[in-house]
Amino acid sequence: MRKKIIIGNWKMNPGLTDAQDLVFKLKNYAFKNKQVDVCVCPPSAYLVTIMNILKDTSILIGAQNMFYKEEGAFTGETSPKMLRDLNVGMVIIGHSERRQFFHETDQDINLKIKSALKFGLVPIVCVGEDLQTREKGNAESWVKGQVEAALKDLNQNDIEKLILAYEPIWAIGTGKVCSGEDANKIIEMIRATIKAHSSESSSNNVRILYGGSVKSDNFNDHIKFENIDGGLVGGASLNFEEFIKIINLANNVHALH
Ligand code: PGA
Repeated sequence: MRKKIIIGNWKMNPGLTDAQDLVFKLKNYAFKNKQVDVCVCPPSAYLVTIMNILKDTSILIGAQNMFYKEEGAFTGETSPKMLRDLNVGMVIIGHSERRQFFHETDQDINLKIKSALKFGLVPIVCVGEDLQTREKGNAESWVKGQVEAALKDLNQNDIEKLILAYEPIWAIGTGKVCSGEDANKIIEMIRATIKAHSSESSSNNVRILYGGSVKSDNFNDHIKFENIDGGLVGGASLNFEEFIKIINLANNVHALH
């Protein structure tokens, strides 16, 4: 059975004091939730500080981005080797904000996934359609194309290490949530795409999350589906009480399945 995971994507948001305050509170709490993996993704400037606070806990740490090159003259970038050297376990790849504001292509994302895997990092690969694509009825084919591009040249072993997150762009930071039923439909399609590309075992083993305006008062609608293995949480992950409530929803559902 796949273990549920709740990942907090802090984006470029908290100040250092607020970030420290948040993880000190999490540090004292998250041990009670062993049935669910919990991961926080601080801005890269805070990775070391946050990792030091969380070092003796089960809370996982992810970066929000990385470049695919190992080293070189790429001012401002962070390499997978650097993340590995810091003992960062995971890295978000292909978030829609990276695709939109930093013009990352499907090909860049595929290179980043391969490079992350080479350095032992778990890629958290984001896919999702914009509002126009959904309204035209093309959400499934759009997301399928993104998944196929992400999986290009990956073998079964690689694919089973991935975490995917279905994050419809129109639901990110907008307060508009994609219903659990609609998210589940897309996630079923993602599993079928993985199966066609690789094998039934890959499709059964990969964790696939929902993200987009996840809050404690709407997440039950998603996490109740056996296919949805957790959440990629932006805004609500910055509020300790909210984040814990979301973790607990995943924990409760885990006990039921
Ligand atoms: P949100 O962000 O929860 O604030 O909508 C989710 C994300 O972008 O990962």
